[in-house]
Amino acid sequence: MADENIIMGHAEDNDGIEEYDNSLPDWWLALFFACIIWGGIYAVMYHGYQQTSQEKLYLAEVAAAEEQWGGAAEVDLAAVEITPELIAAGEPIFTQNCVACHAADLTGGVGPNLVDEEWIHGGEYADIVKTVTDGVPAKGMLTWGPILGDEKVRQVSAYVYSKSHQAN
Ligand code: HEC
Repeated sequence: MADENIIMGHAEDNDGIEEYDNSLPDWWLALFFACIIWGGIYAVMYHGYQQTSQEKLYLAEVAAAEEQWGGAAEVDLAAVEITPELIAAGEPIFTQNCVACHAADLTGGVGPNLVDEEWIHGGEYADIVKTVTDGVPAKGMLTWGPILGDEKVRQVSAYVYSKSHQAN
């Protein structure tokens, strides 16, 4: 650096600390301006031309997932046919997971009676599937969806539905 050190001369205001007033080093200025130019280019690329902003990546991923799995999760429950096979498949699932609270004859215990006319969350097949899938965690009814998976939930719900509609 060719410059002489220039002193600001207000050390008495600053606990005796002197401050230089030298011009900024060239390397520092070069970095500074390079950053400004880079920032401009980056902003234009990011908001304007570039294809890989986070938003676009996200939308592309969602579109790909939609293509791969789309529709599969959407089952029209009202249209599910409650076949004897579906009910039969549900029985052992009920025995294994549900009797502790709803009893083997479904008349209830910790959990409510499932074969009387009273329903807290609705007694249609779609209602039962929804209650079993989502559970009622605040009341001690587990969220079975992730535990059993959609298919088993549909089977065990068919079993509950058939039992309750037999009794009535
Ligand atoms: C740990 C005890 C427990 C277990 C195990 C359990 N439940 Fe429940 N269940 C409950 C309770 C408590 C409620 C009442 C929730 C409320 O009050 O909203 C309930 C509610 C329900 C309802 C709604 C009843 C209504 O009147 O609307 C259905 C259907 C049901 N359970 C099915 C099942 C099935 C199927 C299983 C096995 C996969 C199961 N439950 C396992 C405790 C349990």
